[in-house]
Amino acid sequence: MNNSIQPYRNYYRQRTANQWRKTPAEHGDPSAIRPFLAGNWKMNLIPRAGVALAARIFDLCRDVKDVDMGFAPPFTGLSTLADYIEPDFLRREYGIGRNVFLLAQDTFFESKGAFTGEISADMLAAIGVDRVIIGHSDRRANLGKYFGFSSSVARRLSKDFLTHTLKRLNLRENPDKQVLATIEHLLKEEHSDVLEGLATFLEAELNERAGESDEAINRKVHAALSNGLQVIFCCGENREAHQMNETFKLLERQIRMGLEGVARHTMPDVIIAYEPLWAIGEGAKSAPLEQIKQVHDFIRNLLMDLYGEQIAAQVRILYGGNVKPDNIASMMELAGVDGALVGGASLNAFDFAKIIRFGLPD
Ligand code: PGA
Repeated sequence: MNNSIQPYRNYYRQRTANQWRKTPAEHGDPSAIRPFLAGNWKMNLIPRAGVALAARIFDLCRDVKDVDMGFAPPFTGLSTLADYIEPDFLRREYGIGRNVFLLAQDTFFESKGAFTGEISADMLAAIGVDRVIIGHSDRRANLGKYFGFSSSVARRLSKDFLTHTLKRLNLRENPDKQVLATIEHLLKEEHSDVLEGLATFLEAELNERAGESDEAINRKVHAALSNGLQVIFCCGENREAHQMNETFKLLERQIRMGLEGVARHTMPDVIIAYEPLWAIGEGAKSAPLEQIKQVHDFIRNLLMDLYGEQIAAQVRILYGGNVKPDNIASMMELAGVDGALVGGASLNAFDFAKIIRFGLPD
């Protein structure tokens, strides 16, 4: 895999979203960009509560046909929801049908084997999943914190651990001399502050950053696509990158590496979700419209560079991060925004129905 990052270029200046065609879905043009409103339930709702929520939403969205809607229950809720959203039933009951998509929140890249707790893409496809969210920031950034490996790695910089390691290495026939020298150096009494500082720094870094890598995400993308699943590929910058004006650089890396090797003809099966980390979740505010517009333009121009104009005009780019009933309409008015990935507000039937019905009278 080629991991080299191309030098950053200011794609978004090349063309603004207003120059891209946003074809109204009613015209029946197969290449039309249909808005897609997706709800990520994260780790919420047992299966029957999920079905009850979906039923209330469908009821409030009767006859809404011009947008696609998606629901991402936890893995345990997929089968039950799959049975419920059968298109003929939805058409009869609610006047909707093929515009309802079942989403999984993640997948693993191997197809089977000794991977306790993981779920493969073909298993998801077999129970009727249409699309899978890959690279969500909950998984890109927070796993170190959840699973506690940050502290266990940082402990390796303690004096006791290093002294023990030194003994162990010295018993080996050919210990790495550089490693030995480094450990001996760190163990010197005058360096004990440095050692402590390094451990604290490492723990904080891992807490914040340790999660799925671009490489793992890329493998998941390939696994999903080759099993006939569409991909909702999440990308977005953390607060630090945002404050340091490194948003474009980071997004370019995430997109180039995450989509590495995805063939042009497969790209229509990829949906991109831009979700700035600092705008996600309770207590945060959605990104300002100007930023959403700039980033969506940037992503589309990057796609143009990678896949050409036709693909770039076709791929849906969603925004995510505190999308609510009262801000969805202004976001959807932006020419480059083709929908939204919604967390908190997708758990409330009225809120999510309003989001799906953006622009329609109540
Ligand atoms: P939020 O979550 O809508 O609750 O901010 C968005 C997300 O995490 O996808």
